Amino acid sequence: MSIKKTRGKKYQVVSFVGARPQFVKLAPLARRLAESAAHTKIVHRIIHSGQHYDPKLSKVFFDRLSIPEPNENLRVGSGSHGAMTGAILARFEKSLVKQRPDLVVVYGDTNTTLSGALAAVKLGIPVAHVEAGLRSFDLSMPEEVNRRVTDHLSALLLCPTTESVKNARREHVSGKIVRVGDLMYELLHSFRDHIPQNNALLKRCRIIAGEYVVLTAHRPATVDSKDSLKALLALIKLLKRPVVFPVHPRTRSSLKRHRLLGALRAIKNVRLVDPLPYIDLLTLVTQASAVVTDSGGLQKETVFLGTKCLTLRDITEWPETLRYGNHLVDLSQKKMRQALAAPHKARRIPWKVNGKAPSELIIQSLTSLLRG
Ligand code: UD1
Repeated sequence: MSIKKTRGKKYQVVSFVGARPQFVKLAPLARRLAESAAHTKIVHRIIHSGQHYDPKLSKVFFDRLSIPEPNENLRVGSGSHGAMTGAILARFEKSLVKQRPDLVVVYGDTNTTLSGALAAVKLGIPVAHVEAGLRSFDLSMPEEVNRRVTDHLSALLLCPTTESVKNARREHVSGKIVRVGDLMYELLHSFRDHIPQNNALLKRCRIIAGEYVVLTAHRPATVDSKDSLKALLALIKLLKRPVVFPVHPRTRSSLKRHRLLGALRAIKNVRLVDPLPYIDLLTLVTQASAVVTDSGGLQKETVFLGTKCLTLRDITEWPETLRYGNHLVDLSQKKMRQALAAPHKARRIPWKVNGKAPSELIIQSLTSLLRG
């Protein structure tokens, strides 16, 4: 797929996002693109698929992370995987036909990522994939399907780690593979010194710094079935400390469907709260004794901030985190006990690649692709 070169021409680059974990990756890149607009020749536009429409999962991230308002929102809403992927594909295609950008950037591994990449390549528009090359090697995870296919459609694979570079090479993808580091670490780094300590949030949750656990769970394997939800409740009881649990909408509806919300509320050490804005979650994570999660992004954020992480899965697409205080406990009480007892020593994670920030390297790679 080639990009027509025109002297002095400005290139139109569309970032296509739609779900919470994509907004945090977009934030540092959008900021640097805006700052360097005068000399990069890139005109950056943001299109939102509408996969996440809840203000607590979407608007609050744009507002608090100072991401420019999306130029367009496709308002696709919720649905089954097939229905959602198809609807995003059809609506994004229409939008691309009108705008004809030079390049589409997709992020991570959600249904928005896959549909965005498909719509663009089918119109002959090259795709750059941020967070390429990650693998959990578990095709029952929708994210694994999304990231594998997206990598094979992409002209540029922007890999965060050496492991992800190896994965992409092993699959002989046709696009160019570049290690650029991790945008989420760049964002975390910029916030690190501004994370409020001991603030009103802790008081509101009736918790004391260093003496509580943060829990998040939203993946189908953890929250969709009654059995896995029951196992989760048993793990919470095992923690014997206050547990702050920001409940994802998917988890809340599954708890209601299986009539387990009452049982969860009845557990004395649990504090249920709504999904939290980025900085509030970081405040809780930095001062927690541990984080229990099935999220990919939160595993990274937790180890970056030096807190012990217990991951409710038996495999991770971020194997590097296992060297920095992340433990795979699945839904097993035995593994959870062992991980809680294991000594924890926080270690600094490097976030620049050869002294350069991920957003800087990404812009360099996008520019060289655009210039052919
Ligand atoms: C999606 C991503 C997942 C990511 C997660 C972060 C896919 C396949 N999964 O999962 O990788 O970690 O986002 O949150 O793309 N809902 C609302 N309000 C919303 C959005 C969703 O109430 O704004 C409810 C709906 O009932 C919906 C359910 O949550 O059916 C699941 O939402 P969906 O976007 O399908 O997937 P997530 O579980 O959020």
